[in-house]
Amino acid sequence: MAHLDTSEGFAVMAAGLRKRYASDPEALRGVDFAVRPGEIYGLLGPNGAGKSTALQILTTLLLPSAGSAQIFGEDVLAAQRAVRRIIGVVLQETGVDPLLTGWEALELQARLFGASRTAARRRVHELVELLSLQDFARRRIAGYSGGMRRRLDLALGLVHAPRVLFLDEPTTGLDPLSRRSLWDLVRRVRRESATTIFLTTQYLEEADSLCDRVAILQAGVLVAEDSPSGLKRRMRRDLIELEPQDPRLADRLLAIARQRQPEAMWDRQVVRLAVADGAAAAEDLLAAAREAGIRLSGLRVAPPSLDDVFLELTGAPGPDRLAGSGS
Ligand SMILES: Nc1ncnc2c1ncn2[C@@H]1O[C@H](COP(=O)(O)OP(=O)(O)OP(=O)(O)O)[C@@H](O)[C@H]1O
Ligand SMILES: [Mg+2]
Repeated sequence: MAHLDTSEGFAVMAAGLRKRYASDPEALRGVDFAVRPGEIYGLLGPNGAGKSTALQILTTLLLPSAGSAQIFGEDVLAAQRAVRRIIGVVLQETGVDPLLTGWEALELQARLFGASRTAARRRVHELVELLSLQDFARRRIAGYSGGMRRRLDLALGLVHAPRVLFLDEPTTGLDPLSRRSLWDLVRRVRRESATTIFLTTQYLEEADSLCDRVAILQAGVLVAEDSPSGLKRRMRRDLIELEPQDPRLADRLLAIARQRQPEAMWDRQVVRLAVADGAAAAEDLLAAAREAGIRLSGLRVAPPSLDDVFLELTGAPGPDRLAGSGS
């Protein structure tokens, strides 16, 4: 029977990846990925979860202690050179000569990848356009803002038109506006060049808005993997908030809520509870409150946020809260 290479159809495939640095506890404890061509795939986790370790193994920069990985069927251990030709990598810390202009840095990078002078120039034009670098490409990198730097980093990672682009925390340290504009650019890259994108992030919001699928990594273990909406659906819980017009009736309202859901609580001027079916429970609660003579000044039914999912899965607040960026 012919040998079937099942990794061929996937852009990124990893099985049983483990990594131990020196004698420390394992940074990765058996991690699997299967990323489809054209996907934007996010590895979400707090500081120290093992995100950079995984990304560096997938990009041939670090050897795993065990396990295997392939990029479009090319093995990261046995075929390093082939892998490096088809991937682009933007690390957390990037080093570029700050005295160059963005334009010069891109042209240099293209030449390093073997492009002729003409081809290099053409490629830089394309990338300046693709990543909207027109306003600052001719200025020295030393004077760039964080957002400009990250856009240039993205362009540098794309110089050789890789099939898979790896981004390690592409928006950490950026303000919310720059972060959003970088998300738009990442989407544009995928749309215009069909590049598969594998990124790591500490931001639930980023995973939610940008990624087709998200894997949640905690202490070297994948605790979940799904689309952002799938992760939320898996919770099968809606959140209800009831606000009494008269706060003195809070206790009675809370008692009514607790008859239905014992874990209901009084928090920041509202009664809060999680239920399986938000719409039905809200109707029922509204009727019960009216019957008890309690008027409401507010009623909200919300699907769970990715933060709630994170809390449920890991028992810890989402990395957004840990990182203090709030949401
Ligand atoms: N070169 C190294 N030598 C020893 N330990 C390391 C090394 N690099 C990472 N580690 C450890 O491995 C674990 C995972 O680190 P890693 O950098 O992969 O996490 P991360 O998820 O990328 O975190 P961050 O969000 O802070 O970038 C951590 O406990 C870290 O201290
Ligand atoms: Mg990292």
